[in-house]
Amino acid sequence: MQIIKLSATDSTNAYLKSLAKSEPLEDLTVVVAHEQFKGRGQMGSEWQSEAGKNLTFSILKRHKGLAAKDRFQLTICVSIAIISALKELGLGNLAVKWPNDILSGNSKICGILIENALSGDKIQSSIIGIGLNVNQSLFNNLKSVSSLKLLLGKTFDLNELLLRIVFHLESELSQLTKIWDKERWVDYENLLFRKDRPSTFEDNRGQRFMGIIRGVSGKGMLKVSLENGTLSEFDLKEVKLLY
Ligand code: BTN
Repeated sequence: MQIIKLSATDSTNAYLKSLAKSEPLEDLTVVVAHEQFKGRGQMGSEWQSEAGKNLTFSILKRHKGLAAKDRFQLTICVSIAIISALKELGLGNLAVKWPNDILSGNSKICGILIENALSGDKIQSSIIGIGLNVNQSLFNNLKSVSSLKLLLGKTFDLNELLLRIVFHLESELSQLTKIWDKERWVDYENLLFRKDRPSTFEDNRGQRFMGIIRGVSGKGMLKVSLENGTLSEFDLKEVKLLY
């Protein structure tokens, strides 16, 4: 496994994506940056991270026959890998806020951005970007965000932590396509934040509604039982879990 360390880049996802186009990189090549100028988040958002304090890295995964329709398997593998690594550090109350925000209690500590290169109906390769708040203590203007340092009261060696997470990623990603044995799917569903609890959602027109998270569909849609008794499925653009 190759680890490329950068002092600064716009985004490790963008860097790894363009490097993979120009060089024959080996599977599981990692790019980690001390600082990102333009860290990318989900749904076009920005990922902010104090230079040198946190982990901001991306890993290249090449696939053998992963169908595009099964892309949610990746989200499951990556979420579970990160949670396994964080558990080893003694962090508790870990959950996944659908689809892939990693929380401890009510606070987000890690975000994941997966970008897939498709060929027809198959995923050729994925760039898996991970931002983990590690040693940062101040989060100006950011609500419900925390770090390992704030939660566990000590600082962490970023290199050691990176290797620990990559180890879990390697092991979970080797399970891909076997995931339909359901075991990992159920593990993921059991980690869902606010599962089986009445919650408030907002749809893409700003309308609020009540529902209860029941799980995720094969395509990774969120399954929510509504007040009228129906079980509905939502994708990320359609719904936001408020509380
Ligand atoms: C999110 O929760 O919105 C996803 C955040 C993903 C951030 C990471 S940091 C490393 C990698 N490079 C990026 O530009 N984004 C991801």
